Amino acid sequence: MSLLTLVSLLLFSTSATVLASPCVAFDINWNLLAFDLDGKDYNAGTQDTWTGSGKATDITTSGRPPFDGSNTTCYLSQYTNAIYVMGADSQEPASVYIYDAGAKSWSTQAVTAGSFDPSSFDAILDHDTNVFYALSNGNLFSLDMGLLKAANSTPLAWVNAEQAPYPANYQPVMALAQNHIHFLDVPGVAAGSADIFVIHYSYFQPVPQPFPLPNGSAIPATYGQATSFFQESGVQQEFAFIPQDSSAVYVVNVETNTTQMLAGPTTKDPKATYFAGITSLVQLDSAGGVSFLPYQEGNVSVNSAASWSTVSLLAAVAPPSSSPNNSTSPSGSSGGNSTGSGSSGNTGGAPSSSTVHWSLLAILAAAAIVASL
Ligand SMILES: *[C@@H]1O[C@H](CO)[C@@H](O)[C@H](O)[C@H]1NC(C)=O
Ligand SMILES: *[C@@H]1O[C@H](CO)[C@@H](O)[C@H](O)[C@H]1NC(C)=O
Ligand SMILES: *[C@@H]1O[C@H](CO)[C@@H](O)[C@H](O)[C@H]1NC(C)=O
Ligand SMILES: *[C@@H]1O[C@H](CO)[C@@H](O)[C@H](O)[C@H]1NC(C)=O
Ligand SMILES: *[C@@H]1O[C@H](CO)[C@@H](O)[C@H](O)[C@H]1NC(C)=O
Ligand SMILES: *[C@@H]1O[C@H](CO)[C@@H](O)[C@H](O)[C@H]1NC(C)=O
Ligand SMILES: *[C@@H]1O[C@H](CO)[C@@H](O)[C@H](O)[C@H]1NC(C)=O
Repeated sequence: MSLLTLVSLLLFSTSATVLASPCVAFDINWNLLAFDLDGKDYNAGTQDTWTGSGKATDITTSGRPPFDGSNTTCYLSQYTNAIYVMGADSQEPASVYIYDAGAKSWSTQAVTAGSFDPSSFDAILDHDTNVFYALSNGNLFSLDMGLLKAANSTPLAWVNAEQAPYPANYQPVMALAQNHIHFLDVPGVAAGSADIFVIHYSYFQPVPQPFPLPNGSAIPATYGQATSFFQESGVQQEFAFIPQDSSAVYVVNVETNTTQMLAGPTTKDPKATYFAGITSLVQLDSAGGVSFLPYQEGNVSVNSAASWSTVSLLAAVAPPSSSPNNSTSPSGSSGGNSTGSGSSGNTGGAPSSSTVHWSLLAILAAAAIVASL
């Protein structure tokens, strides 16, 4: 085996496992927060400034998670102005890191997972109760966050509520609106319809609810990402669904039970994640690029004409590392240009600086092995 082969093998195996996974969220003043873009956290301010020539504010501070997980997810607790971050610490996969957006401080909430699998779930944070509901390996779990904006020293626990009435192979896509959890892409359910769990009654509605487009066509029955639009206060009434092919954005209104079809993201990235505020849907792609679609609830003509723009304030401080869908050779501000490192494994983000360190270690290790032959 040649030195080069050995080095590239080692580079591949190490860099693939240490890719960081950033996430975006809003605070209750609708400032866009981006966590772990090129290893730092930023506040990009409100929507009116995102496309300007300024720079996002660095809000990186102590107590933050290592962001070394592969599937980090962020949730806004609107009552507490806290962001709950899951999957951001590979050593403590069940812990929920709490960012108090008012105090700008972090704390770590210990969580007992029980039979909840932190490596396989989808979850929503219920607006009114501040309780997480998650589907993991076919079971519905809940995690009551109380009104925490800083961690409690007593661990919290995921409670296994009940088995969900969905096929075992269901890869969950969950969306919250009006205290109902909408399960999209359930096998056997017609395109455009969702199965519903009514939170306040702990009740799986037996009949799926259709959400047709105005012309009678339907959201495709396919896997994708979902995120709820917030209101200034009160429970969400609409959610966005973005299929994996990024071909369109579907906005479902659960008051009228109808769907609007809007422009798909410019960056077609099956590994992108999304977070909606009140007046925008934000995409974080797997190279660390952040863009948004402006949105006005109830204004079909404006929404139909809306298009995606880059959040230049974030790109100015943390340029995306490479094209998301082709990230076989990360380059740019953080990834370095080490050969052969792939990010194909997971919901990666822009590789953080740890990639470079591991790559160097790998080269040293390989050199040592070869030298000893
Ligand atoms: C990340 O998500 C992928 C896809 O759902 C899953 O296969 C993998 O196990 C997850 N990894 C971790 C560390 O949670
Ligand atoms: C219905 O409307 C959507 C969105 O405008 C469009 O993509 C689709 O082709 C239409 N379907 C039919 C059957 O007209
Ligand atoms: C919308 O769907 C919900 C849930 O199935 C149902 O309770 C409600 O009556 C429907 N509303 C309309 C206007 O059809
Ligand atoms: C939609 O927005 C446009 C532009 O702001 C405004 O002129 C129009 O009145 C709005 N329509 C509705 C139904 O809100
Ligand atoms: C990459 O992007 C192209 C064009 O946008 C798309 O057709 C293709 O499916 C994507 N490939 C992967 C692996 O996501
Ligand atoms: C991915 O790489 C191929 C070959 O280098 C290139 O043709 C294609 O445009 C790239 N796709 C994207 C989405 O950047
Ligand atoms: C990356 O590539 C550039 C141009 O080829 C080179 O100057 C630079 O030293 C490389 N950086 C690393 C970390 O290899």
